[in-house]
Amino acid sequence: MSELSVKHLLGIKYLKEEDIQLIFETADNFKEVINRSIKKVPSLRDITIANIFFENSTRTRLSFELAEKRLSADVVNFSASQSSVKKGETLIDTVNNILSMKVDMVVMRHPNPGAGIFLSKHVEASIINAGDGAHEHPTQALLDSYSIREKLGDVSGKNVVIVGDILHSRVALSNIFALKLQGANVKVCGPRTLLPKYIESLGVAVETDLRKALNWCDVANMLRIQNERLDISYFPTTREYTQQFGVNKALLDSLDREIVIMHPGPINRGVEITSDVADSKQSIILGQVENGVAIRMAVMYLLASKIK
Ligand code: CP
Repeated sequence: MSELSVKHLLGIKYLKEEDIQLIFETADNFKEVINRSIKKVPSLRDITIANIFFENSTRTRLSFELAEKRLSADVVNFSASQSSVKKGETLIDTVNNILSMKVDMVVMRHPNPGAGIFLSKHVEASIINAGDGAHEHPTQALLDSYSIREKLGDVSGKNVVIVGDILHSRVALSNIFALKLQGANVKVCGPRTLLPKYIESLGVAVETDLRKALNWCDVANMLRIQNERLDISYFPTTREYTQQFGVNKALLDSLDREIVIMHPGPINRGVEITSDVADSKQSIILGQVENGVAIRMAVMYLLASKIK
């Protein structure tokens, strides 16, 4: 396979396994590029990309911008909090105004699930979903799987547990789709109130005992509680949550096996993981961030080749 089966990256749900492998092989080349002394290639010299963020971001936004610059694309950045959205302008009007400035690709983060899908039906540009509410965060899942492949050699056959607020997590959903597509075994672990009722229909097992889940897995992907999306109380107190579902060094060291710790960030240190776990040798959290640039370069490079 030499090109993606999709014109937009709206979610992992729309990808084939071969798409993921093509993105990984392309990212391998870009990872080599970004470790050179001259980190820039001319691949997207004639492409203009708009990063439009209606929600806060540190890693995703910087990673996309850096990836675009490493590919020599022209880049414009738009932040909803400093824009005419505040004066009542709609999403379509906002994006059409940006596109009339001859933009080829839009990277969008939006609080509403399906915002990228909606946009892709109304504009010509290639759309990349940088996180849409509690729905999907495809580049995060791609960089997570890529990091597992890098650390453990393969994703297929590996046991991965995703711990925490699964109900409100776009990272969890995209990871589940990506991991299952690649043949990993997936469990979710968290308070019952934060596990969606449909979760087992995605081919995922539920384990509410954290120690059992960790003793089963090769990789634990620790998620934060999405406080900004909690409309009601889903657990009694943060302290109780941490006691039942937080990983500290004593727990990590007492397991039957040496597991890999992942976290998409931002970390709430002392809640889902303690600092000595986040900064331990078993943690690949900063490696995930590093891989994010190569993965996003690969995604944009491959999508740009489909722009007419
Ligand atoms: N992982 C992630 O999406 O982080 P940001 O919200 O900082 O982009």
